[in-house]
Amino acid sequence: MPRHDSVTIKIPATTANLGPGFDCLGLALDFHNTVELALGAVTEVEITGEGDGQLPQGPGNLVVRAAARLAAEVGAMVPGWRLYQHNEIPLARGLGSSSAAIVGGLVAANELLGSGLDKDRLLQLAAQIEGHPDNVAPALYGGLTACCIDEDEVVCLRFNAPEGLSLGVVIPSFEVSTEDARGVLPQQVPFGDAVFNTSRAACTLAALVAGKWDALGVVMDDRLHQPYRMPLVPGMSEVIEAAREAGAYAAALSGSGPTVIAFAPEMNNEILEAMVRTFGRFTVEAVAFWTTASNEGAVIAEPGPR
Ligand code: HSE
Repeated sequence: MPRHDSVTIKIPATTANLGPGFDCLGLALDFHNTVELALGAVTEVEITGEGDGQLPQGPGNLVVRAAARLAAEVGAMVPGWRLYQHNEIPLARGLGSSSAAIVGGLVAANELLGSGLDKDRLLQLAAQIEGHPDNVAPALYGGLTACCIDEDEVVCLRFNAPEGLSLGVVIPSFEVSTEDARGVLPQQVPFGDAVFNTSRAACTLAALVAGKWDALGVVMDDRLHQPYRMPLVPGMSEVIEAAREAGAYAAALSGSGPTVIAFAPEMNNEILEAMVRTFGRFTVEAVAFWTTASNEGAVIAEPGPR
């Protein structure tokens, strides 16, 4: 695939919800997908890393679909796209792989076509494609984001990523589709649970913005989605508890799961070992690593090695 007339975009992994902030809070993480996009006579897709052999390699590819959405938005006729994507973000694990694809496709096509749509417009398009804004916002802007939807318009507030917080990512070997994970949620919740969550979501955001990590242990709790998703992620509550007992401030289901993410004062491997061991008690195999929050959203990058 020729490298001229192409644009390369690096997009971060993300964790959404952060416990109580369902469909609202999101945080960019320090590992990435890269998309290299060029115009072509037909659509050709090459994938390395996560999703190689699994993701669509034609017009159904999500990066391509997002690029096509951008082209339609600005009235550009594009016969095909040539896409090379290198993925570090595992699929369907709650770490923003689909958001990275959507944001990558939109930002790359915007650059390639010289469309000049601003980030707010790109966010609106990304949230329309994804269906909710909490992963696409940090994937686009980086940092910590809080979003709500007002009559189809996403309102997004961005804050700098919390500094000095270590994030332990524990990824089970199985996938959970966001569709399935949303399918188990109730139509209605008790008023008390709504109050439980609105108060904790506000306190979680405040604790992260103010650097008051100790508060996370109390406020990063949830009654809107995690309890309903427990059957999809065996051992989830026990893994969250194990993280806390081993020294994390708090832990939560990452996005719609099955990954559990721990918020810790330092990269103490005993925390990850305790979490992996606890998943093991439920016959769930998991891999674990440390990362940090990142202020960098989707950015233009140098083409990577093939
Ligand atoms: N807020 C979303 C959910 C994130 O929990 O379903 C997953 O995309």
